[in-house]
Amino acid sequence: TAALLAEAAPEDALGHLRRDLSACARCGICARATAPVPGEGPAGAPLMIVGEQPGDHEDLAGRPFVGPAGAVFDEAARAAGLDRGAAYITNAVKGFKYAPRGKRRIHQRPDAGEVTRCRWWLDLERDLVRPRLILAMGSTALASLTGSGQGILSRRGRAETLADGTPVLPAVHPAYLLRLPDRAQAAAERARFEADVARAVALA
Ligand code: URA
Repeated sequence: TAALLAEAAPEDALGHLRRDLSACARCGICARATAPVPGEGPAGAPLMIVGEQPGDHEDLAGRPFVGPAGAVFDEAARAAGLDRGAAYITNAVKGFKYAPRGKRRIHQRPDAGEVTRCRWWLDLERDLVRPRLILAMGSTALASLTGSGQGILSRRGRAETLADGTPVLPAVHPAYLLRLPDRAQAAAERARFEADVARAVALA
């Protein structure tokens, strides 16, 4: 795949990537999910946004960030004046990992081995899109990109630089904002998240 992709124009190569991803068996997650969820957006997008993994809604729709966390992100993007279609939005892990509970499917965090295996796809996406800046939402995205997802609350909002020179801006994951029980804290954290998204848009 990598050799084939290297020869194709980036937009065609993203198409190849989507097709090859649909048959991925690098870890066991996608065998139990509906299908891998590819990233979406144009090659050459100045801003790449990386989340953790598709959730229940994304798994069913086959698109990233279309559920409740996606709605939080979309609001922040709107506030920042970002046209979502002009960015490339993807996940560190392309399959929905869950535990069945009755009729519900409960999100399970991907483990380090799964994140590492799926990084192969994220690296390809980075090669093809060549973004000016990557917004890493949540510790899984940050770990996949930088090697460590530790300390995200103190790292957010300040750009770090990857080995290839690409800046990464850490932010919390939008789903984290939906889990905060305290209203005042939730409002403060949301404002902070929106500021981080706006900074990513401005820097890209
Ligand atoms: N959470 C993520 O990390 N990614 C999605 O695509 C949806 C929810």
